[in-house]
Amino acid sequence: MSDVIAVEGVSKRFGADAAVEQASFEVTQGEFFALLGPSGCGKTTLLRMLAGFETPDAGRIIIGGKDMTGVPPNRRPVNMVFQSYALFPHMTVAENVAYGLRAGGMNAKDATRHATEALALVRLEGMEKRRPDMLSGGQKQRVALARALVKRPKVLLLDEPLSALDAKLRETMRLELVRLQESVGISFVFVTHDQDEALSMAGRIAVMEKGRIRQIANPRGLYETPNCRFVADFIGKANFFGGTVTHQGSGIAVVNCPDLGLLTGRMERSVSGAVTLMVRPERIRLSAAPLTDDGTNLQGRVTHIAYYGDESRIVIDLGTGRTVTASIANDGESGARWRVDSEVFLSWRPDDALILTE
Ligand SMILES: Nc1ncnc2c1ncn2[C@@H]1O[C@H](COP(=O)(O)OP(=O)(O)OP(=O)(O)O)[C@@H](O)[C@H]1O
Ligand SMILES: [Mg+2]
Repeated sequence: MSDVIAVEGVSKRFGADAAVEQASFEVTQGEFFALLGPSGCGKTTLLRMLAGFETPDAGRIIIGGKDMTGVPPNRRPVNMVFQSYALFPHMTVAENVAYGLRAGGMNAKDATRHATEALALVRLEGMEKRRPDMLSGGQKQRVALARALVKRPKVLLLDEPLSALDAKLRETMRLELVRLQESVGISFVFVTHDQDEALSMAGRIAVMEKGRIRQIANPRGLYETPNCRFVADFIGKANFFGGTVTHQGSGIAVVNCPDLGLLTGRMERSVSGAVTLMVRPERIRLSAAPLTDDGTNLQGRVTHIAYYGDESRIVIDLGTGRTVTASIANDGESGARWRVDSEVFLSWRPDDALILTE
């Protein structure tokens, strides 16, 4: 598949502070690509450079095979959807959507027809004559999308487009946006700080920390095989154990953890010296008696149980000043099995833990 966007070593400073440092990635035709990271890590700045509202200090951006250096926003084959929607309050929904086409010189009849089509795409048929103040948050969001889509850009840039919506509507809109993206086949670059949003919507995700892209992978790859502690911690829940590698072989390493002894985990590449072992809460098995297999076995006492409906998170004190969180599915039996103060054995198979070197 051909690349629609190529970002090559792009950096941007504001005064002495680097907002984006050496960012490089490609987005392919029709891909749903997410930029994910905590507040202030440079997501919006990167998106604004793609749109042409900011100029990179270094590196270059290629869109549709053309170097965008010096190309103003209105000459780029991209459109941006802002978090605030930025609708014109005095115009109807249809006028809002048609505005860009009219400003570009299209006649009223064609602009209206295109606007009607775009509104059908976002399921707002029949709302053409309303004004923005007569719409719900989700409907305003859709008008903003229709307005961005009507010009048929190669790429749609979306900056936290769902953040103003309530939790339930946000989830509905996630599915709608994915459906829309698949039906129009335009590449989406979607900015969010919400890991669930990125995991559930994007084909690939770039995780950013302090202006740098730490890892680019598909959702499963990021969750199962994060390349550093930052990504492991940012995507989902994780337990971390620091230690020193004592043996390794056949993809498995044994780590000596000062307070817990020998722990095992899988390694992506050969490791040595100081490492961090990471285990996801749902990969920890709890049992009333020790399990006898070649994995890691530990013992502790339940100190807290947090009930989330579909699962419960169980905090276990290992007696060394360290706690571990395990999660269990509330599928009827297992969820009700543990109580605060229960003595439990916990274990994991070597494949269920990952050795991190950064
Ligand atoms: N116009 C500007 N002038 C000075 N500093 C800026 C400007 N825009 C952004 N910054 C700084 O650059 C860094 C990155 O900001 P950016 O808005 O890209 O972060 P973000 O990842 O989008 O965060 P959020 O999730 O909060 O929207 C921040 O430290 C921010 O304060
Ligand atoms: Mg932002």
